[in-house]
Parts: sequence; structure tokens; C-alpha cells
Amino acid sequence: MNCSARTPQVLCELLRTQHPIIQAGMVWCTGSDLVVAVGKAGGLGTLGAGSMYPDELRDEIAQVRAQWGGPFAVNVPLLYPAVEEHMETLMKERVPVVFTSAGSPRKWTEQLKSAGSTVVHVVSSAAFALKAEAAGVDAVVAEGFEAGGHNGREETTTLCLLPEVVDAVNIPVIAAGGIHDARSLLAALALGASGVQMGSRFVMTQENPAHTRFKQRIAEAGAGETRLMLKQLTPVRLLRGPEGSFFDQVAEAEAARSDSDVMRSLLGRGRAKRGMREGDLMEGELEIGQVSALLNDLPGAGDLVQGIVDRYRSFRTEGMAPGFHWDALSQNPR
Ligand SMILES: Cc1cc2nc3c(=O)[nH]c(=O)nc-3n(C[C@H](O)[C@H](O)[C@H](O)COP(=O)(O)O)c2cc1C
Repeated sequence: MNCSARTPQVLCELLRTQHPIIQAGMVWCTGSDLVVAVGKAGGLGTLGAGSMYPDELRDEIAQVRAQWGGPFAVNVPLLYPAVEEHMETLMKERVPVVFTSAGSPRKWTEQLKSAGSTVVHVVSSAAFALKAEAAGVDAVVAEGFEAGGHNGREETTTLCLLPEVVDAVNIPVIAAGGIHDARSLLAALALGASGVQMGSRFVMTQENPAHTRFKQRIAEAGAGETRLMLKQLTPVRLLRGPEGSFFDQVAEAEAARSDSDVMRSLLGRGRAKRGMREGDLMEGELEIGQVSALLNDLPGAGDLVQGIVDRYRSFRTEGMAPGFHWDALSQNPR
């Protein structure tokens, strides 16, 4: 396939959005208000189903549809225990776009596509991207080591991963990990991505349901304050909490080379909700990307999308941006 077959325009057509900007699905950090604000600004908003009970997911989808008639997405980590029930809901509701992650897309892709959804799978290597393409997904997200949340074991950064994946597959590639503004969007497009998915940046928005204490902690965070941890279980990038916090406990256990049973009992249950939704910085798990060091404001999600698009357009006027752009779709009827 030549490059013109996966320009930002092609991705926008696939997702039915105005801009190739996706708000990532994130456990405990998404909700209908955020999804609607992003959608109304021309991006793609995503519900993170990985922290929702099946009835909550149905409810959130209904709330999105009550406020917004355009496209939106749902993210389902395939290790989620009630994945079958979530998938039934997505197919019954004919959710426009489904992002799958943390597992093999083989089982669900065809069924979701038959139900009318566009299917995108999240990968951390070119090898996984090829498997996802063979499974029939419409696009992949190439998510680098910088990213917040669960992450690949390969530790490949976005700058290296993205061209590897772009060269390996023929479907559109969405860049994720460390992207937060027009400069990083420009860099991702220059490396061959058709669009971007941002997670951490959208945690720091007004509509995000994450706890204010978590957002304040992110605003204060400096360089080097996140680390990829719990690699024996499922690798996840965590933000340092106060002294003696869960982060320090995990760091100590890892330094002592504790086995996976010890790590599992240390993790226990409910840590992610406690940290990100309830604001318990001491005992909770705080998932965020390296880019947290650059985030210290709290814009509305729609203003954030519009600001990035405006700045990107100004790059073009300044002659900095590549020749491709998606303006032709700005009047895209939904
Ligand atoms: C708080 C948080 C929760 C996340 N939860 C999920 C999830 O449930 N499913 C998933 O596929 N990715 C999840 N991610 C990863 C994001 O979807 C996205 O790919 C990532 O945040 C991109 O990197 P960035 O944080 O540097 O923007 C999560 C990220 C964060 C920050």
C-alpha cells in the first residue's frame, strides 16, 4: 500500500471524525462528559470499559448518545474478566469504533466488524502489529514505552516503535505514548502515523472524572517521577506518590527481587480506583505517562483539541508541517 492510502484523511474517514486526534480509553479516567466534549471538538472520544461493570458501560453509552449523535469509541482490555458481556453490549449497541488491547484480537475482530464497528487494536511491537493486521483489524495503535497505563515488555519508545510498525503493516497506524500537543502530533505524522491517541493529556482536562488530588499530583510531577513497574505481573507505568506510598512499596519489593506471588498480594485489589478516582495518593495506584512532567494546566477537553489543531495549522503557515493535512474534511458531515 502506498502512503497516500493511510494519510490522516484516511483515518478521519475511517473514524468519521474531523481531526486525527483520539482521546484514549483509560481505566477510571473516562466518562460520557469527556467523550462528548472531545467528539464535539472534532476528535474521537473513548470510554474506557476496563473499569466499568457491564451495566455501567451500557449506561455510559446511553449518556453519550443522549448528548451527541456523532462517532465515539469504547476501549476493552481483553484481559477484562467480563469481556464477553462487554462485547455483547458493543455489538448490540453498534458502537462505531472499538479499541481492543492487552490480548489477541483474533477472537473478536470479525464479530465486531460484522456488527458494524471499526476495530482498532493496541500494540507494543511490529510483531504484534502484524498479528493484528492478519486478524483483520482496521488500524493499530502503536503505543510506546513512555505511555501511561499498561505497557509492553519490550520497552520500545514511541520514536523507535512508530516507524517499525508503519513499515511493517499496510493499515493506518495511530501513534500513542508521549503525545500531548501540536509538536508531538507533527512528529508522529512525520514518522508515518495517520493520527494520534493521547491518554495522559486527557487525564488533565476539566471533564475527566479522575480525582482532583490525582490531577494536582500530576501537575506537580517532574521528569523521572514515573516508572514502568510490576513487570512480573502486567507492566504498568506508575507515578511516584508521597514517601512510603504504594509506589515505594513496589519499588522496594522489586529491588528485593520478590516473586510474583509477593507482588500479587502487594497489589491486592482496587488500587487503581483508590488512586485515580478516589485520590488516595498513599495507597492507590497512579497510572500516568512520562509526559506528566509537561502537564500542568487543566483545559476543557474541547479547547484542548481545538488548540492543538489551531497550532498545527499555524505550523503549516510557517512552512514547518508536512504537505499532508486533513482540512478537506473539516466540513465532514457526520
Ligand atoms: C490512567 C490511564 C489508564 C489507562 N487505561 C487503559 C485501558 O484501560 N486500556 C488501554 O488500552 N489503554 C489504557 N491506557 C493507555 C492509553 O490508552 C494510551 O494508549 C496512553 O495513555 C498513551 O500514552 P500517553 O499517556 O503518553 O498519552 C491508560 C492510560 C492511562 C494514563
